[in-house]
Amino acid sequence: MAKRPLIETAVFPVAGRGTRFLPATKASPKEMLPVVDKPLIQYAVEEALAAGARRLVFITGASKRAIEDHFDSDRELESVLMSQGKSELVKQLHSVLPSYATCIYIRQPAPLGLGHAVLCARPAVGNEPFFVHLADDLIAAEQPCLAQMAAVYDVKRASVIGCETVPRRNTDKYGIVAVEAAGQTARIRSIVEKPKPAVAPSNLAVVGRYLLSPAIFDHLERTGAGAGGEIQLTDGIARLLHAEAVYAYRFEGTRYDCGSKLGYLQATVAYALAHPALGSDFRTHLRKVVAEGSRPGRSRSPGRSEKI
Ligand code: UTP
Repeated sequence: MAKRPLIETAVFPVAGRGTRFLPATKASPKEMLPVVDKPLIQYAVEEALAAGARRLVFITGASKRAIEDHFDSDRELESVLMSQGKSELVKQLHSVLPSYATCIYIRQPAPLGLGHAVLCARPAVGNEPFFVHLADDLIAAEQPCLAQMAAVYDVKRASVIGCETVPRRNTDKYGIVAVEAAGQTARIRSIVEKPKPAVAPSNLAVVGRYLLSPAIFDHLERTGAGAGGEIQLTDGIARLLHAEAVYAYRFEGTRYDCGSKLGYLQATVAYALAHPALGSDFRTHLRKVVAEGSRPGRSRSPGRSEKI
């Protein structure tokens, strides 16, 4: 019999407003922004499935219907593609969500904060540890980040938070942790949301990957509005770590902040270069763009400028 996965449920909070990416995110979710040929939320789901998750819980809000549609089957489109002999495309559509996975959608009534969004998942999660995945943090890694964290959980049997060091000037953009020891995995002593660089306890920042004990829910219930007037997941974790061990884990891989325009562009270039069908042509194109860009005044079209 197949071994039961350690962590069966993954929660995807997708109810935020995505203000850093306006106007693109005015009417459509930032989680549907494509990086090369897949929307961010699909990378997120693939990472969770690769870590063993089977139950996928989306915390949705206004203007997020496209996410539900993306994971629904579209029989009409499939039969059109089949009638055109495009069975390869139909196969690709089927691979969006394997049949063993279940999607659950829960509406967050208003964007009251990430902590509140996670609390909304409680009825679907129950009394088991679970992943929280923020799709706008795209992580390229040989072993998917959540799978790395599940391996840590297998040893520690406690909550694990994905972390990376950031420049000290940026501490006020992240949850920041102080840890008890050096090393890849270390118990967290304290955590604070978006501290100013001068008062930050370290420059070890929380990224959008969490593996949480279900005890977090009781702590979130008691957490009031914090930074920015929102119920912060960081504040819930600050309470949790007084009751049980919580570990910071420095993941292996490269993170792209796709909630910001620059991070999104960096991800697009990196994923396009690594794409098996497009990578080689895209590399040639980039070389050309860079070479032309380094010689100001030269025409974009070498053929025409040569004639001139
Ligand atoms: P962010 O603050 O990074 O996302 O929240 P945002 O609010 O969508 O984007 P900006 O900052 O305005 O550009 C982190 C994650 O938490 C979710 C967001 O969807 C994002 O994935 N979130 C945030 C919720 O689901 N509900 C909330 O009330 C707040």
